[in-house]
Amino acid sequence: MSKRIVVITGSPRKNGNSFAMTDAFIAAAEKKGHSVTRFDAALKNVGGCHACETCFKSDKACSFDDDFNTIAPSILEADVVVFTMPVYWYSIPAQIKGVIDKLYSFCVAGKEMAGKECALITCCEEDDMSVMDGVRVPIERSTALMKWKMVGEVLMPGVLNIGDIDKTDGCKQAAELAKKI
Ligand SMILES: Cc1cc2nc3c(=O)[nH]c(=O)nc-3n(C[C@H](O)[C@H](O)[C@H](O)COP(=O)(O)O)c2cc1C
Repeated sequence: MSKRIVVITGSPRKNGNSFAMTDAFIAAAEKKGHSVTRFDAALKNVGGCHACETCFKSDKACSFDDDFNTIAPSILEADVVVFTMPVYWYSIPAQIKGVIDKLYSFCVAGKEMAGKECALITCCEEDDMSVMDGVRVPIERSTALMKWKMVGEVLMPGVLNIGDIDKTDGCKQAAELAKKI
């Protein structure tokens, strides 16, 4: 069954490690017949949530109009949402955190969101898998709160520089993730 997938990336490095895994995932997903909408948060303008709770009072998700409003309708309609990002300071990069925070607009407006599938692709320099907890745990808990089903995670330690991912099986794992959707 063909599904609508939204992929939200968080790295500013177009040739970086998480983008390489993202590209591998998207290629495999499209090969399976899924349709993919990609949103590169670090290459867009997305601010933080102002907690004004005026979400969707106009025709827009966020009253502080930025590029989140261009991807919000696709997220709402998606069958699957995939988050991809590096670890920054044991946490989620600011660039994608704005998008994640603004998912709050769907909760405030009571939008129907339950039942989506989701997945995570992340990487970091250090070899310790627990370094990725700062990305993995908030994504797992936030998606669970929204009643999304986590179908798979690619957690790739030990990659620092552009190209390091090629020394790992990260892209292979990312392509295999598409098989779970
Ligand atoms: C601002 C910044 C903070 C980082 N913080 C961490 C960190 O806390 N732990 C870690 O292992 N790697 C850290 N890294 C390294 C990146 O996670 C690593 O280089 C990753 O492969 C980058 O992915 P990308 O190529 O997709 O951007 C950091 C990198 C940057 C630029």
